[in-house]
Amino acid sequence: MRKEVVLITGANGEIGHGLITYLGQQGNVNIIALDVQPLDEELKPYCMRTIQGDILDQMLLGRMVVEFEIRSIFHLASILSTKAEYNPETAHRINVEGTLNLLRLAVEQSQWQGQPVKFIYPSSIAAYGIPSLEVKNSLGKVKENEWGNPITMYGCNKLYCEHLGRYYAYHYRQLAAEPEKSSIDFRCLRFPGLISAMTVPTGGTSDYGPEMLHHAAQNLPYKCFVRPDTRLPFMAMPDAVKALLMLHEAPREKLTQTVYNVTSFSPSAEEIYHMVLKYFPQAQVEFSPHLSRQRIVDSWPADIDDSVARQDWGWKPDYDFERAFEEYLIPAIRQRYTA
Ligand code: SER
Repeated sequence: MRKEVVLITGANGEIGHGLITYLGQQGNVNIIALDVQPLDEELKPYCMRTIQGDILDQMLLGRMVVEFEIRSIFHLASILSTKAEYNPETAHRINVEGTLNLLRLAVEQSQWQGQPVKFIYPSSIAAYGIPSLEVKNSLGKVKENEWGNPITMYGCNKLYCEHLGRYYAYHYRQLAAEPEKSSIDFRCLRFPGLISAMTVPTGGTSDYGPEMLHHAAQNLPYKCFVRPDTRLPFMAMPDAVKALLMLHEAPREKLTQTVYNVTSFSPSAEEIYHMVLKYFPQAQVEFSPHLSRQRIVDSWPADIDDSVARQDWGWKPDYDFERAFEEYLIPAIRQRYTA
């Protein structure tokens, strides 16, 4: 008998750490963790199996189809926005072909199982593209279907993969005998920038938020690569994990769209700096904007409208800006760096 499992790709990444730790502590799912890097030791006890491998390796994915009954996939692996600009075609392969491989795996699994496999896909505010800072500053909360002209390869990849998921869920092999059984159950979140106390992201453009905090906590000087007035939506990692799991659990009939915005708070870089100073008065931050990274964040909305997620599946973050620092980030980060 094949074992029923949840597959998490990009397991060693920022969201992977948060999700595996949470699910592992709940202890009621068999996690298969896939990452191109060896999985961190601290995550291994939570996983039934850890696989070091590439989502572009179709033989590897094929073997997984045979070995496991994959009920849900959290496809977290991707190359983030800044890093993707250094090698856009490689990023495209990993972000798009990698996702296509996982979608194909999900379809095969669904056919074997005679029921849809859930496919949870984290998209991003990078899927938006606002033409200028003036326009950005004039907008209120941006809805899912607005401003969809991303200026980064990562943003294009995310937006396209949202469509790929929708295609595989609703339009792939429409002539199959029982499409309702063989198609996948694709659900997608558009995340804002994420801040975790346990990990720092690599290669993203919202990274100045977490980097500022992690540098201050280690007493290191930090050069912030955006202007102080730069404003982006952010979310604390426990809320990101909560959003993924709430969307995973939501009754299918409640979902009125494939892609949902979720957000918590929208501070400027200067407000993040002041919040960091409140807890680490010795923090040394110099604002030294990097032209192309600044341009990327200037094309992302300052705030997004997550009212449909709130309506359809009861989304509500636990942490606002103050609470995220006071009750989650600061205690956990102090513990982390003193340990
Ligand atoms: N945090 C991501 C990045 O900056 C956006 O999803 O690339």
